[in-house]
Amino acid sequence: MNLKLIEKEELHILADWLNDHKFMSEYETQETIADLEKSFGKKGSQWFFVEKKNGTKIGWAAKYLVGKQITIGYGIAPNERGKGYATEAATIIVDYLFLTNKIFRIQVDTSTKNKASQRVIEKVGFQKEGIIRKHFFSSGKWRDSFLYSMLREEWKEPRILTRKSK
Ligand SMILES: CC(C)(COP(=O)(O)OP(=O)(O)OC[C@H]1O[C@@H](n2cnc3c(N)ncnc32)[C@H](O)[C@@H]1OP(=O)(O)O)[C@@H](O)C(=O)NCCC(=O)NCCS
Repeated sequence: MNLKLIEKEELHILADWLNDHKFMSEYETQETIADLEKSFGKKGSQWFFVEKKNGTKIGWAAKYLVGKQITIGYGIAPNERGKGYATEAATIIVDYLFLTNKIFRIQVDTSTKNKASQRVIEKVGFQKEGIIRKHFFSSGKWRDSFLYSMLREEWKEPRILTRKSK
């Protein structure tokens, strides 16, 4: 699996996934291509495609700011789930962020109903901090989220990426 930075002209692929009920179910965010283009390249936000070794795009992983907090997110196409791709992508993003930034924590918020996402983030080693009530509105309902974080001292060292030695 590879992570590849998304180019501006590829944003429509991401927008289609984010607005596809089969992909996102009740976790859809209704982000339009215009929203994505507006935030594209802005300080703090980076979007990657998750690609198989043969180049097939099977999902995304992202880093963005919520207030001043570095936050990550991910999504994998329904027919590719359960194969460890989201766990691997999130582990790589965490390594990348701690290796390249002087930061102390990374956070993730995920719907309290999203068991697969909770499992992913717990496998990566995040700790649950608590509940964010009525955190987002989706499919006609207010939804609660769990907030998770990983601190630099809990990460300790890279799991997949390594610093290139000179
Ligand atoms: C969440 C999501 C990214 C997981 O992707 P994935 O590639 O299948 O994740 P992984 O294969 O790395 O791990 C999934 C884990 O969740 C578990 N899981 C899946 N569905 C589950 C459920 N309903 N209840 C409990 N565990 C579940 C799997 O068994 C696996 O754990 P295991 O390795 O211990 O068996 C994917 O379901 C998705 O794209 N969902 C829609 C978008 C989304 O919710 N994104 C997260 C927003 S923060």
